[in-house]
Amino acid sequence: MFSWEEYDNKEAKLVKKDLQEQTPEAPKGFPVKEEKEQPIVALPTDNLSNRQERAKRAVEQFDQQIGEDVLEGMGSRVDVDQKAMINCRADVNQLVPFKYDWAWQKYLDGCANHWMPQEINMTPDVALWKSEKGLSEDERKIVTRSLGFFSTADSLVANNLVLSVYRHITNPECRQYLLRQSFEEAIHTHAYQYVIESLGMDEAELFNMYREVPSVARKASWALDFTKELDDPNFKTGELEQDKKLLRNLIAFYCVLEGIFFYCGFTQILSMGNRNKMMGTSEQFQYILRDESMHLNFGIDMINQIKLENPQLWDEEMQDQAAGMILQGMELEIEYAKDTMPRGILGMNAAMMEEYLNYIANRRLVQLGLPEEFPKAGNPFPWMSEIMDLRKEKNFFETRVIEYQTGGALNWD
Ligand SMILES: [Fe+2]
Ligand SMILES: [Fe+2]
Repeated sequence: MFSWEEYDNKEAKLVKKDLQEQTPEAPKGFPVKEEKEQPIVALPTDNLSNRQERAKRAVEQFDQQIGEDVLEGMGSRVDVDQKAMINCRADVNQLVPFKYDWAWQKYLDGCANHWMPQEINMTPDVALWKSEKGLSEDERKIVTRSLGFFSTADSLVANNLVLSVYRHITNPECRQYLLRQSFEEAIHTHAYQYVIESLGMDEAELFNMYREVPSVARKASWALDFTKELDDPNFKTGELEQDKKLLRNLIAFYCVLEGIFFYCGFTQILSMGNRNKMMGTSEQFQYILRDESMHLNFGIDMINQIKLENPQLWDEEMQDQAAGMILQGMELEIEYAKDTMPRGILGMNAAMMEEYLNYIANRRLVQLGLPEEFPKAGNPFPWMSEIMDLRKEKNFFETRVIEYQTGGALNWD
């Protein structure tokens, strides 16, 4: 059985092994100290009954030099030129001076958009969902599939951010946004859970759909392949191939998962809302979509900034792979559209969605500086572009950042 003691021992061994491996060229911020038997601030164990007295003695005796060495190892005041997106050796705890203003601005914009799922009235949805003639079978399938995919997809994104991406992005402005984004992903998972609970749906069925329903499972497992490359605790950037793995992960999660895999489901649910059906669910999705537009923009900016600072990563092979990933994502989303729309529904059908996804794929390619693949693709859902493409998907490298000034309220202007 798992025990914390065992966990601590394993962790301690891992840390020790890591430090040993780093010894020859340890980053400045993490000097290697001689091994000590006792944890740095362990309580003396001679008189177990008096914990307060032992704590006082431990504070008097702790070796302050160790912490001071760490601080000293982090170097001095950071100069703006020392900052870098990846493989930076400057102190990551000094947020200012800002170098990446676009990242800081997105952090501020994200905070200005704060919202919580419970603020949205779900009563009309509950009545509609429970009434026998409220929705057609096809409409019910769309709601169920959407909640099934999204309830775990946002969790995959959050896990990838926290466990794989965060430690390799080495500037504090971007990290600040990554923390904000991680919290927003938690709110999104909360929102799906809240809808599922409000409607009295089968929670186990919904939260297992990413493993059990093929069109949902294929999208989830495609993305997970790119997390797997990075979630090894020994994975480090700093070499060409490793840095390319990080870049592929960012493209997979920001451009494909958040930038393509969300589009069919969002279009379907918002279309339902446009027809005065599932209004609460649709409003939840609109709030989520506003956040997601910014996640996507941030991801594109981050990827393009990494390319700018590390042009050797963006070679012909990498460009080919990046374009291929966008196209694969598009194919998987078309499969999902066919699975969820066997017939025309809500003013749309799978063929229209396919054209829309060609159009979205073009957009992702251009955002990465790659040529369009579908020059003839139009946008069959201009009302979606009203909401998300044209005004919200502006990013730093295309034009000025769009600012949100509206606090928690939904306002697309
Ligand atoms: Fe999300
Ligand atoms: Fe997101």
